[in-house]
Amino acid sequence: MESAAVIGVGITRYGRITDRSFAEIAFEAAWEAMRDAGVDREGVDLLVVGNVGGWSSEPLPAVTISEYLGLDGNGSMRVEAACASGSAAIKVAADAVTSGQSEVAMVIGVERMNESPVTNVVELIGRAGNYFWEFENFGLTFPAYYALYANSYMQIYGAKEEDLAEVAVKNHYYGSLNPKAYFRQRVTVDDVMKSRYVAWPLKLLDCSPITDGAAALIVTSEGKAREFTDTPVYIRSIGTGTGTSNISRRDDLLGFDAVRKAAREAYRRAGIDPSRPHRQIDLALVHDCFTIAEVMAYEDLGFVRRGEGYMLVKEHQTYIGGIVPVNTDGGLKAKGHPIGATGVGMAVEVVKQLRRAADPQRQVDVRNGVALTHNVGGTGHYAYVAIYSI
Ligand code: COA
Repeated sequence: MESAAVIGVGITRYGRITDRSFAEIAFEAAWEAMRDAGVDREGVDLLVVGNVGGWSSEPLPAVTISEYLGLDGNGSMRVEAACASGSAAIKVAADAVTSGQSEVAMVIGVERMNESPVTNVVELIGRAGNYFWEFENFGLTFPAYYALYANSYMQIYGAKEEDLAEVAVKNHYYGSLNPKAYFRQRVTVDDVMKSRYVAWPLKLLDCSPITDGAAALIVTSEGKAREFTDTPVYIRSIGTGTGTSNISRRDDLLGFDAVRKAAREAYRRAGIDPSRPHRQIDLALVHDCFTIAEVMAYEDLGFVRRGEGYMLVKEHQTYIGGIVPVNTDGGLKAKGHPIGATGVGMAVEVVKQLRRAADPQRQVDVRNGVALTHNVGGTGHYAYVAIYSI
C-alpha cells in the first residue's frame, strides 16, 4: 500500500508562552511547515488539529486556526486522543492522503496549557484517567498514576530512584542542545534526587512540565511527494492500540498492552523484526511524560526484555552512539509536553533527523534511514507507534 509522505515541518519553541495567542502559535508552526514544503494556503485541502484543550480559551480550535491561516472553505477538524492527540491527527491526515480523499493535508498540534493555573490543569489531566472510578473516588492525578507504575517497577525489578533519574539526565542533556526545548539546562542524578517529591517516588525532575507550543506537518501521498520536495520522509506505518482507562483492570502496572499491540502492528506493516527492532531503527522518540514511562517504553517496544529497561539508559545505550538513541530533542521531559502538539513535535524531530538536518551536536547517524515514534494517551488508554523512513 502507498505510504503518506511528510513534505514540510514546523515547530515553535515550547515553554510558557504569554506573548502570543493560540492562533498565533499555530500559525507560526504552520507557516514554517508551509515554507518548508513550498506549499501555499490554497494548496492545502484538509486541516487536522491535534488538541485536547479544556485549559485554554479556544473551545473549537480547528475553525479558529483555519480562519487565521486563511484556509476557509476547506475541511477541518480537531482530533483528540489525550496526550496522543498529535499522533491521532497525523493518522487521520495520512489516511486521507493515501486514500486519495485529500491531496495535501496540514496537521497542527497545538496547546496553551498555561492559560489556566497549574493546579487546575493537573486536575483536568487527572480527570482523564478514569473519571468515575479513579478520579472521583481516589483523586488520582497523573503524577500519582505514574508513581504507581514506578513503585511497582522498582518493587518487582529492583530499580532505584537514581536509575529513573538517568532518563531525566539524558533528556535534559539533549534539551540543552535543542533551541526549541522548554528546558535548556543540564541536570545530574543528584539534582533529580534533590528535587522535591511530587508523588513518591517521582520528583519534580522526573515529570514533564505543563507546556505551551505548536508543531505542524504538511502531508501528501508517496506518489506526489517529489513534486514538492527532494527530501520527503515517508510514514511507513502507524500502529494503534486502545487499553482500559481503569487501571484496576490491567494485568500489571509494568507496561501497556495498548503499546505492545500498536508496536506489533507498526513493525509488521513496516517490515521491522519485532524481536530486534533497534537493529533497523536509527532513533526513537518515546513518550517520557514521567521518567518511568520512558523505561516502560523501551520494554513495550521490544528494545530489551521486561525488567531490563532501566539498565539500558544507565549504560548510556539510549544516547547517540548507543544501540538506539532515544529522545534526541529532549523528550517530553525537557523539550516539553504541550499535550496535543507532542505527537506532531515528535514527527518534526524524526523528519529533521532523517533528512540529516537536526542541530549538529544531536544529529544521529541515520544509516538505515528509519525512525520510530511512540506516543501514549492517558495512563495507557491510547497508543500510537509509527515508523518513518526516507
Ligand atoms: N521539570 C522541571 N522543572 C519544572 C517542572 C518540570 N516538570 N515543572 C515545573 N518546573 C519548574 C518551573 O519552571 C518553575 O521554575 P521557576 O520557579 O524557576 O520558575 C518551578 O518548577 C515551579 O513551577 P510550577 O509550575 O509552579 O510547578 P508545580 O509544582 O505547580 O508543577 C508538576 C509541577 C510536576 C506538578 C507539573 O509540572 C505537572 O503536573 N507535570 C505533569 C504534567 C502531566 O501530567 N502531563 C501529562 C502526562 S501524560
